[in-house]
Amino acid sequence: MKNTVLTIKEQKIKGEKISMLTAYDYSTAKLIDEAGINMILVGDSLGNTMLGYEDTISVTMEDMIHHGAAVARGAKNALVVVDMPFMSYQPAVYDAVVNAGRLMKEGRAEAVKLEGGEAVCPQVKAIVDAGIPVCAHLGLTPQSINVFGGHRVQGKTEDAAKKLIADAKAVEEAGAFAVVLECVPAKLAELVTKELSIPTIGIGAGNGCDGQVLVYQDMLGMFSDFTPKFVKRFENIGEIMKNAFAAYDSEVKAGTFPGKEHEYTIADDVLEKLY
Ligand code: KIV
Repeated sequence: MKNTVLTIKEQKIKGEKISMLTAYDYSTAKLIDEAGINMILVGDSLGNTMLGYEDTISVTMEDMIHHGAAVARGAKNALVVVDMPFMSYQPAVYDAVVNAGRLMKEGRAEAVKLEGGEAVCPQVKAIVDAGIPVCAHLGLTPQSINVFGGHRVQGKTEDAAKKLIADAKAVEEAGAFAVVLECVPAKLAELVTKELSIPTIGIGAGNGCDGQVLVYQDMLGMFSDFTPKFVKRFENIGEIMKNAFAAYDSEVKAGTFPGKEHEYTIADDVLEKLY
């Protein structure tokens, strides 16, 4: 069954947990989709995981469109949410609508995600009014890493917690269909989840959220540049891949790959004429 913003909202009403994973390419999207995950996030984390940047700041609209379209081709049932990259929506409402439109038209997004609360509510409202669903993102918003001064848990003081609650209510009011809560105390995320009618999707926000999202390379053990506390490794695929690459290397160098079973044949009478 195709997941839509409506089915995602219904999952909250029914008390069913919502699953989301990142993907950045066709074949991974297909596997995630076939596993029954509700939403695929084409995150700007592709700057780290796919492009090797230290942060998400340099990710472009073209990067997001390129990877979004690849993921959309592999996702039959999962709702595809594509991140709006840094500076594609912050400067002006007009830019935000045009760029969200490009992510939908060219990147085949079914919804877009942007970072921020009250400050970006005019953008959220205008994008939704243009017919494009918006997922908001609060807490540790990686595009603002230079303001935070590093990867820190957000919402720990009374003021910060009150601001997070106000931001969450504001993006709901502006029309967001869901909100990602990243790196916030579990009890605060639980409170926000109770206060909102739209689903909260947690990453480092505890088990009280309506759903969870992880970066797929993190949960598969494929990305070791840094591993936040909230990541659970469900497999160690990185090690399996490395062993397979090493086995290939050995067989190529030993001349044992390719074997007879990997060869194509040519008829002897044709071959004779070549000598
Ligand atoms: O870009 C991303 O992968 C994200 C998740 C961490 C929520 O925004």
